[in-house]
Amino acid sequence: METFENLGLAPMLLKNLAGLGLTKPTPIQAQGIPHIVRGRDILGLAQTGTGKTAAFGLPMLTRILAYGKRPAPKTVRALVLAPTRELATQIHDNLAAYAEGAPVRIQRVVGGASLNVQAEKLSKGCDVLIATPGRLIDLIERRALVLSETKYLVLDEADQMLDIGFIHALRRIAKLIPAERQTLLFSATMPKLMEELAASYLSDPIRVEVATPGKAAEKIDQGVHFTTQGEKAALLAEYISRHPGELAVVFNRTKHGSDKLTKLLEKWGFSVTAIHGNKSQGQRERALSAFRASEVQVLVATDVAARGLDIPQVAHVYNYDLPNVPENYVHRIGRTARAGRDGRAVAFCGPLEMSDLRAIEAAMGAKIPVIGGEAHAEGGSRPAPGRSGQPKKPHRGQGPKPAREGEAKPARKPDAKPAAKRGGRAEGHAPAGGQAAPKRPARAQRGH
Ligand SMILES: Nc1ncnc2c1ncn2[C@@H]1O[C@H](COP(=O)(O)OP(=O)(O)OP(=O)(O)O)[C@@H](O)[C@H]1O
Ligand SMILES: [Mg+2]
Repeated sequence: METFENLGLAPMLLKNLAGLGLTKPTPIQAQGIPHIVRGRDILGLAQTGTGKTAAFGLPMLTRILAYGKRPAPKTVRALVLAPTRELATQIHDNLAAYAEGAPVRIQRVVGGASLNVQAEKLSKGCDVLIATPGRLIDLIERRALVLSETKYLVLDEADQMLDIGFIHALRRIAKLIPAERQTLLFSATMPKLMEELAASYLSDPIRVEVATPGKAAEKIDQGVHFTTQGEKAALLAEYISRHPGELAVVFNRTKHGSDKLTKLLEKWGFSVTAIHGNKSQGQRERALSAFRASEVQVLVATDVAARGLDIPQVAHVYNYDLPNVPENYVHRIGRTARAGRDGRAVAFCGPLEMSDLRAIEAAMGAKIPVIGGEAHAEGGSRPAPGRSGQPKKPHRGQGPKPAREGEAKPARKPDAKPAAKRGGRAEGHAPAGGQAAPKRPARAQRGH
């Protein structure tokens, strides 16, 4: 049997693992760790909730511990980039827990907090820095740190980091890191076009693929419920009511839509909070920590919470709107069924979302079982912003301004589709008439 002891990890880390519930390595850990310990570049692909953080974190810390001396002021030995502040914080906390008692300095820098305080923290140098790209660039511009001594680069959620929303920032950052480095790329999804781009960051990499990239986690019981936009809120209320006390994440396409839905659910008596890019950092942190502590039952979120967040008690994910980046479906539903638990995911598909649904199924290589309603006519898609009358900031081709992590930018694809097609629609998530009491939706066919 594979154990953590025979993967080549530092004893100082091994002694912490059992206390963290890590007794037997997951497949991505068993297959990836030995290569990383030996210094190889890796493209690591494994489903959501299967322990990718430890798969890169433990061997990287092992290599860093082998140096045996402190980093020089303002230098960073290992840089981990993540798309959102909350994910960067979580990775920081995980790595700090693995390294408890070991002589490594692990820091985190993200937007929404004081630049001066962060610059001060970096002044002594650090072994591992977890950062969001926009804030990292701000700090580099202030000369608060240099990357000339950096030997490791990790991109968590690599396909998103290589996507248009982050690629300009990533290119700038990567140029500052010596070519003689070890690069580790991890995700649950890796669309073909992204993989070509990924290759340009890796040197003689080993591809560790536990499941076909884009596959949903095994234990998620998925279903799609066809409905109309106007009936979604009542339908959601019905689903949530069937599982009192069980944590649920509800994904919404827009910040405004999330706020409207949150208010409505509150009015209907649900225990609910929201997280999206228009909230202050304090509000974002409070929302997430209340949800993590099960003090609120429902978290309404945009795609800012789609990737990486690990809240083991989440039992349900509702796709109130389908995501406009098809891969994000797998990440969104992956907020449940973590570390071998089970979970349920229901997608609400309105008449204008049929093409989104088909794109998701194509990206996953699987059909989502129908659990309610009647399929709409094929070909229904969201109107472009011009037609909806909602002016929308363009988010593609904006030149080399670095992405800010306030909102994960759903900006792919590098295909021929016009930008307007994706991220198209703006609003319209409240039920028709807005404030009506929840109507009973059509009964779901399975135990969702
Ligand atoms: N070997 C292990 N045994 C038991 N639990 C583990 C093990 N490795 C990791 N876990 C737990 O599994 C959960 C998911 O881990 P992690 O967040 O690293 O998953 P992930 O693969 O990065 O998922 P995502 O694709 O959503 O980012 C965490 O709660 C973690 O503590
Ligand atoms: Mg992860």
